Amino acid sequence: MSNHIVINADLTKGTINKHIYGHFAEHLGRCIYGGIWVGEDSDIPNTNGIRNDVLEALKALSIPNLRWPGGCFADEYHWKDGIGPREGRKRMVNTHWGGVVENNHFGTHEFMKLCELLGTEPYVNGNVGSGTVQEMSEWVEYMTFDGESPMADLRRANGQEQPWRLKFFGVGNENWGCGGNMRPEYYADLYRRYQTYVRNYGDNKIYRIAGGPNIDDYRWTEVLMREAGRMMDGLSLHYYTIPGSWEEKQSALDFNESQWFETMKKALHIDELITKHSAIMDQYDPQKRVALIVDEWGTWFLVEPGTNPGFLFQQNTMRDALVAGLSLNVFNAHCDRVRMANIAQTVNVLQSVILTEGDKMALTPTYHVFEMYKVHQDAELLELSKSSASYELNGQTLDQISATASRGQDGKLNISLCNVSHEAPAEITIELRGLKDAQASASGRVLHAADMHAHNTVDAPNAVAPVAMEGIRFENGILRATLPAASVAVLSIG
Ligand code: AHR
Repeated sequence: MSNHIVINADLTKGTINKHIYGHFAEHLGRCIYGGIWVGEDSDIPNTNGIRNDVLEALKALSIPNLRWPGGCFADEYHWKDGIGPREGRKRMVNTHWGGVVENNHFGTHEFMKLCELLGTEPYVNGNVGSGTVQEMSEWVEYMTFDGESPMADLRRANGQEQPWRLKFFGVGNENWGCGGNMRPEYYADLYRRYQTYVRNYGDNKIYRIAGGPNIDDYRWTEVLMREAGRMMDGLSLHYYTIPGSWEEKQSALDFNESQWFETMKKALHIDELITKHSAIMDQYDPQKRVALIVDEWGTWFLVEPGTNPGFLFQQNTMRDALVAGLSLNVFNAHCDRVRMANIAQTVNVLQSVILTEGDKMALTPTYHVFEMYKVHQDAELLELSKSSASYELNGQTLDQISATASRGQDGKLNISLCNVSHEAPAEITIELRGLKDAQASASGRVLHAADMHAHNTVDAPNAVAPVAMEGIRFENGILRATLPAASVAVLSIG
């Protein structure tokens, strides 16, 4: 069976919020320390302590928002330990992640500087699990209050005269687990209380995000929406693609065809999760005012051999690229409810976009997917229907292709495509209806490799990189192209 797609170029289905292309950087392993922050005295070229190579690479992705400081770390982070002269900052044990010493050298000021340099919106995650209402309230006052107050004065004493603009604020993280092991009824009450003191100062209007469900915990969503839905702007959802099981994870690099298939299937499961959580949200919020914020997603494999198990450092292959492409296509399709998502995590942790070793850096296949897909940020989602060939293995079946079509603010029509088959190319016919420009031409880029295990390392950083797509034919509104096996592509028409 062939792959046939119909796109109605004049029928939009909503805006793909650019925040779907968000990122997440936790104090975990070598994400912040070594991956982003090297300190002003480092031999690694840096700007205010932030490494320049990573900064430039991230800038090229147009990251819309960055979530920090965790994750599980957020619920044991005490922000006052991370302000003031660095040499005097308190040292603590990062109990969740490897039991290493956290010297608090990267704190609020350093994070805000990173966001400023990246031109990205900060998304700060507060501490409910082990922090007080006062601590959370004072953090918001410290960051955003313009007038005279104890916290605004303290900020000024630490060198920041003007308040920062802070839009996104998370009230706890995974409060069903590492963020306090709470029941939804208890967390819903705590959420109501804590968020009361997350104040809007001046014209800084905070978008409050409640700690949401784990995977398919629909009861959590039900209770949170019923008890606290009207007091939140977003409800988070965490879902990781874990082939094998949580207890018996598998290698990031050493996998077979069955494990490839299982990974694709598990990545696509996010579609069902979003559909079902959204259906519950619809009952309490039919206007879709509250967004579903998928603020942790991505692959979770075994750590690379010889590395600290608490650092969650894993390599990243074409398989990860497909997980990224599929997941983003799913989020795009649900843009009426999913208005933010954050891949876990930015550098050196889980499904990273960047890996570093000392002063060297490699961009992962996942990075290239984010770079190719950035055309969808704030673009209009176009109506698309597809009839896909089947990808079959061991008696199981998936659609061979996944796709999103959108129209960017520059008027260009962009189509992202994934071919999940590890072995078969996908011949695709795309019928473009309602295209105004009869002279439009088509071009594209594709990310693929002869071997599904292909990946980049700091010593061989260009093994996987997008190339111009050959053989695209576009005549009379019909586009024909062949996607190589195990590939991600973005075609542009205009
Ligand atoms: O991303 C790693 C961890 O996964 C986060 O700290 C936590 O929120 C989740 O369980």
